[in-house]
Amino acid sequence: MAFESIKDIPAVGFGLWKIGPEICEDTVYEAIKCGYRHLDAACDYGNEVEVGRGIQRALADGICTREELWVTSKLWNTYHRAEHVTPALDRTLNDLQLEYLDLYLIHFPIALEFVPFETRYPPEWFFDPDTSDPCMKPSRVPLSDTWHSMEKLKAEGKAKHIGVCNYSSGLLHDLMNYCTTPPELLQIESHPYLTQEKLVRLAKQYGLEVTAFSPLGSLSYVELDMASQDESILEQAVVQEIASRLECSAAQVVLAWGVQRGTSVVVKSMNPERMEQNLAAAEIELSENDIQAISALNQNRRYNDPGVFCEGAFNTFHPIYD
Ligand code: A2P
Repeated sequence: MAFESIKDIPAVGFGLWKIGPEICEDTVYEAIKCGYRHLDAACDYGNEVEVGRGIQRALADGICTREELWVTSKLWNTYHRAEHVTPALDRTLNDLQLEYLDLYLIHFPIALEFVPFETRYPPEWFFDPDTSDPCMKPSRVPLSDTWHSMEKLKAEGKAKHIGVCNYSSGLLHDLMNYCTTPPELLQIESHPYLTQEKLVRLAKQYGLEVTAFSPLGSLSYVELDMASQDESILEQAVVQEIASRLECSAAQVVLAWGVQRGTSVVVKSMNPERMEQNLAAAEIELSENDIQAISALNQNRRYNDPGVFCEGAFNTFHPIYD
C-alpha cells in the first residue's frame, strides 16, 4: 500500500540511531524482511550509506517497493542556513540512494556553525574536534529561515512531508505563526517516564502527527552511560502485570501504550526475536485503565537532554527545554 498522507506513517518504525556502519546494511535488510515499513534515519547517525545499501538490497529482492517503505531522515544542526538545507538533503538522498524522502525533519532546534562536507561528515556536535579545547559553536540562524528552506524541499517533492524534532510548545507556537507550509509531524522523546501530555496534545491540536523516540525509555541510554539498567520501565510492576495478563512482553506493553495514545514509535533492536516482537506490538490492545496506569508512571524523566549532554560530552552549556 502506498502512503497517501502523513497519517499513513506506520505506527512502529525501526530506529537507526547507534547502529554501527559495519552491521547497518544487514540490520536494515533484516528489519525490512521482518516487516518494518518505516525507517527512522538521520545524517547524524553516520550510517546513511549503509542504510541505503540495506534498502536497495531489500528492494532488489522484491521484499517491498519503494512506495511501500516510509523513510524519514533529519537535517543536522550545522546545515540550518538557507543555502545549506538543500545540499544537506541532497547528500542524504544520495547516501540513501533514494529519489525522495517520505519525511524530512529538523533534528534539533539548535543551529551550529557550518562545517563543509569535505571537512567532516557527519560533522556531529564539535566545531573542531582536533583543537585542544573542542566545543560547540552556535550559529545565529533563526529557525524560521531553516523552516522556509524546508518548505521549498516539500514544494520540490524531494521530501513528501516535513516536520521538526525536539521542539518545545513555545517553539511550536512560534513555528505555526511564521510558517507558510505547516509542519506535519513532531518527533520527541516520549515513554511512560516522560509522557509529555501537553506537548502531544498541542501538536495534535495544530494538526501534527507525533512520533515518540526512545519509546522504551532508559534502555537506549544504558550503552551511553546516561542511564542505569535498573531504572528500566520494563521492570515496573504495573507493566509486568499487564504483560503477563495479555501474554506478551513488557516491551510490547510499553510500545502498545505509545501507539494507542496516538503516537507512532521508533525503536530498534539488534535481536531478531525482539525486532519481530516490537513490530507486533501495534496489534496489542490495552484497556483504557491499562493506558492510564502506565501513564501514571510519568516522572518527567528526560534522557536525551542537550542541556545535560552538550555540557557533559561537548563542553558547551546549551539547554533548550528549560
Ligand atoms: P537490543 O538491540 O539488544 O534488543 P532505542 O530506544 O535507541 O531504539 O534502543 C532500544 C533499546 O532497547 C536497545 O538497547 C534494545 O536492545 C532494547 N530493546 C529493544 N527492543 C526490546 C525488547 N523487546 N525487549 C527488551 N529490550 C529491547
